[in-house]
Amino acid sequence: MEAHTPPEPVLETAIRIDSHLDGTHERSLADDVLDGLTRPFKELPPKHFYDARGAELFDRICELPEYYPTRAERSILEQNADELAQLTAAAELVELGSGTAAKTRVLLDALHGAGTLQRYVPVDVTESMVRDCAAELTGEYPGLRVHGVIGDFERHLDQVPPAVGPRIVAFLGGTIGNFPPGSRRRVLREISHLLGPQDYLLMGTDLVKDPEILQAAYDDAQGVTAEFNRNVLRVLNRELDADFEPDDFDHVALFDAEHEWIEMRLRARREHTTYVGDLDLPVHFDAGEEMRTEISAKFTVERLEGDLLAAGLELVRWFTDPDDLFALTLSRIASDAASAPDG
Ligand code: SAH
Ligand code: TRP
Repeated sequence: MEAHTPPEPVLETAIRIDSHLDGTHERSLADDVLDGLTRPFKELPPKHFYDARGAELFDRICELPEYYPTRAERSILEQNADELAQLTAAAELVELGSGTAAKTRVLLDALHGAGTLQRYVPVDVTESMVRDCAAELTGEYPGLRVHGVIGDFERHLDQVPPAVGPRIVAFLGGTIGNFPPGSRRRVLREISHLLGPQDYLLMGTDLVKDPEILQAAYDDAQGVTAEFNRNVLRVLNRELDADFEPDDFDHVALFDAEHEWIEMRLRARREHTTYVGDLDLPVHFDAGEEMRTEISAKFTVERLEGDLLAAGLELVRWFTDPDDLFALTLSRIASDAASAPDG
């Protein structure tokens, strides 16, 4: 089918958006919820946090005094964007979990300034984010094409269009840390398939540090993170006709020192049974029972190198902020993996 497509017209429109969520996303939510809520230790997968309200709450988290990752990552980008632009000479930036692309503008500025930038490809499950940022960015960067992909980066990476030139795949915000170690390596390996020999992965990861600083970042004084965490229950109420009472749950954030990750949970205040209508599923909670809603892994350079290596990637550059709070790493297909038969 692709082979019969006529050559692209010279005058392309600046924005193209593809959506891959038709129906399958709801099904995957239902599957995840059935799987997660019938386990002995209940669990919900984090990608369902980000409906419009969740995205808005996440934006507010990024502004909180306790939530240092966004500021730290932005400062690293500001310090090193020109070097990144020189080193990669990227014609396109593909961004996974792009959200509002707030920090991305630092990179786009540098690539635009270097004169290499042609296209931005945001990939996100939240439709409004992809549409809004496409409209805004084409306005801000004259000549920039935006090809938005509304989809799940665990399932739809094959829908990312072929590269138009040297490419950076950005995966910012520490989102990779939201996957447990095994899935993390699988996701990285799938991402590596977006890279050719001249392309780079630019990834943001939060670093291991004083547990008190970590805990505060996920349990802020104003309770915004608590609201964000409870919002997943509102998503289930709306999408799956469930009857969770968000106020029946307390927000819990704890640092697991053995695994070096933050765990976010919701703890039932009282014994009760909720009902998930679309699944015809009663779900019983004991008083004090906790349900895991997210992990956020913290990294050392060794952990990161190990994960990259397992995915066939090699570390090229490692950037941190002056306080070593957060790291931005540039990696590429490992030289020995490039010729290996397993892609
Ligand atoms: N990159 C931004 C946003 C991080 S929040 C930043 O650094 O601030 C995580 C983003 O990833 C949200 O926009 C969410 O909608 C998106 N996301 C989470 N899981 C996803 C998945 N499986 N596929 C696609 N996008 C996902
Ligand atoms: N990727 C972000 C992180 O791990 C997501 C996040 C930040 C988050 N704060 C949160 C997710 C609070 C749930 C609740 O830091």
